[in-house]
Amino acid sequence: MILDVKNLTKTFEKNNKTFTAVDNISFQINKGECLGIVGESGSGKSTIAKMLVRLLNPDSGEINFLGKDLATANKSELQATRKDIQMIFQNPLDSFNPRKKLKTSVGAGLKYIMGLNKKEIDKKVNEALNLVGLKPEYADRYINKISGGECQRAAIARAILVEPKLLICDEITSALDVSVQAQIIDLLVDLRNKMNMSYIFITHDLTLVRYLCDRVLVMYKGNEVESGTAKDIFENPMHPYTKLLLSCIMTVDNIDENKSISYEKLQHSGGCKFKEMCPNRMEICNSIKPEIKQINNRNIRCHLYND
Ligand SMILES: Nc1ncnc2c1ncn2[C@@H]1O[C@H](COP(=O)(O)OP(=O)(O)OP(=O)(O)O)[C@@H](O)[C@H]1O
Ligand SMILES: [Mg+2]
Repeated sequence: MILDVKNLTKTFEKNNKTFTAVDNISFQINKGECLGIVGESGSGKSTIAKMLVRLLNPDSGEINFLGKDLATANKSELQATRKDIQMIFQNPLDSFNPRKKLKTSVGAGLKYIMGLNKKEIDKKVNEALNLVGLKPEYADRYINKISGGECQRAAIARAILVEPKLLICDEITSALDVSVQAQIIDLLVDLRNKMNMSYIFITHDLTLVRYLCDRVLVMYKGNEVESGTAKDIFENPMHPYTKLLLSCIMTVDNIDENKSISYEKLQHSGGCKFKEMCPNRMEICNSIKPEIKQINNRNIRCHLYND
């Protein structure tokens, strides 16, 4: 196991009220494994990712990464693990300096994290650009002279150059055209086979999750509602929310657009967080929040599965 997350929690202030964006989330990732995190917009997926790389500080919980708890690690300890966990975001343009050549941006980690010299960096940058399918002349280009797909390839090159053990991908294909998306996904699969990295793959695209991921964590309003192998979750979803998510009738987006239920109400009323939307709602769901249970080789948070 390379990552063991325990009871990770993050609260934010919204309209002078505290709400829990990530609520007691636990999961593990083994070497070479790909975990998909899915759930409607605002369910806390990016907040988890940002806590893992400490762009956000957790309120509580543990992030055990190769024997070190990153939740409480200090600056120098974090710096030491920076090489091992890399993250790629939805909009790669935001994470590149428009005034720098691609080779400088892509090679930054080699300079600051690995301490390599210019010659070594140029060589490795060229290799990485080649690996992600960008021609050598791209090294001297500026970010405004390349396409969105090429920019995302460059972001992947930058992330994999330091040979991370865990690569976190947060919606990395959603800003790209469908054909470019497919190329990027093929690239990730290829790199995964070559480098035996572990991945966290956050996306609204469930087809992608099914294609790429070994395990899936389903989130709803900051909670884990179900998790298990991708095969189990897709072939036999057990939680009513997972069922809705996977059915064509109610997609991720139109759940979010259901304005008849106020966000406040969902956050602050008691019982199960999914009860307002749930087709299987029972009396107990109104007052008691279900605990996570282990059934059929998976975790599930639902009163339907009480003993
Ligand atoms: N820095 C912040 N300050 C206050 N609230 C925040 C902050 N970051 C996120 N949130 C809130 O926390 C909740 C979870 O946000 P998060 O970005 O993790 O969701 P998500 O699952 O990644 O959604 P999406 O699929 O739209 O990317 C949302 O209600 C969001 O508005
Ligand atoms: Mg997000």
